[in-house]
Amino acid sequence: MKSVTLSTLRDLKARGEKFTCLTSYDATFSHLMAEAGVETILVGDSLGMVVQGHDSTLPVSIADMAYHTAAVARGNGRRALVIADMPFMSCVRLEDALSGAKTLMQAGAQVVKLEGGLWLKETIQHLAHGGIPSCVHMGLTPQSVNVFGGYKVQGRGEEAAERLLAEAIELDRAGAALFVLECVPTAVGKRISESVSAPVIGIGAGPHCDGQVLVLHDMLGMHPGKPARFVKNFLTGNAEGISGAIKAYVSAVKGGTYPAPEHCFE
Ligand code: KIV
Repeated sequence: MKSVTLSTLRDLKARGEKFTCLTSYDATFSHLMAEAGVETILVGDSLGMVVQGHDSTLPVSIADMAYHTAAVARGNGRRALVIADMPFMSCVRLEDALSGAKTLMQAGAQVVKLEGGLWLKETIQHLAHGGIPSCVHMGLTPQSVNVFGGYKVQGRGEEAAERLLAEAIELDRAGAALFVLECVPTAVGKRISESVSAPVIGIGAGPHCDGQVLVLHDMLGMHPGKPARFVKNFLTGNAEGISGAIKAYVSAVKGGTYPAPEHCFE
């Protein structure tokens, strides 16, 4: 696979072709993903839950993120675009955001992901001036679980949907390079994806987003307890095992069969 860049993703969006993203935290899985044609790999701070065993993403540090980003970058070999998460509270003060993002880029990330909304505008502009593209994660932002009072669908109702849309449009104009949109009604995912120029990667945001992302452990059915509505297990029944599951995910997203209505919110 040729190196995927932000312009590759913008071209895919312009052509209406869906692209894929999966989370990875190590070299072996990143290698398998790049081999399977996954365009973007997210070193998610979900590693706090699925790798470190915490009950939220809040304990994850920049040092943790840098360690896993470096491993992912080595396994990927400059094929998929590597996005690394800015962890909890790392973007509240501008100087922390700039220094944390620099650490992740030097560890091998090509884009940093920040959870939040309009309050990130100045930060993403400063990062862009410094040569760092930002992916803004909106909707259900797990680092704010204590503000939301749980992992709940966001952007429901006209006022909340309009607010989310207006913030996305302003951040797009301010230079956001990508968006992740988590757990919003399908109609909201569609409107935002159509209204911003940056590619939008959905997770529980319906089939109209430009790309889709899942947490690796979820799509392999390794989630303890009941998985979220948007999760599909691609491993069960796949004769080719883990590589086969990743390839099945790629072809389901590209072929438009995932997410299906049962994975979406109204
Ligand atoms: O940390 C993560 O894995 C994420 C995805 C849920 C999008 O942010």
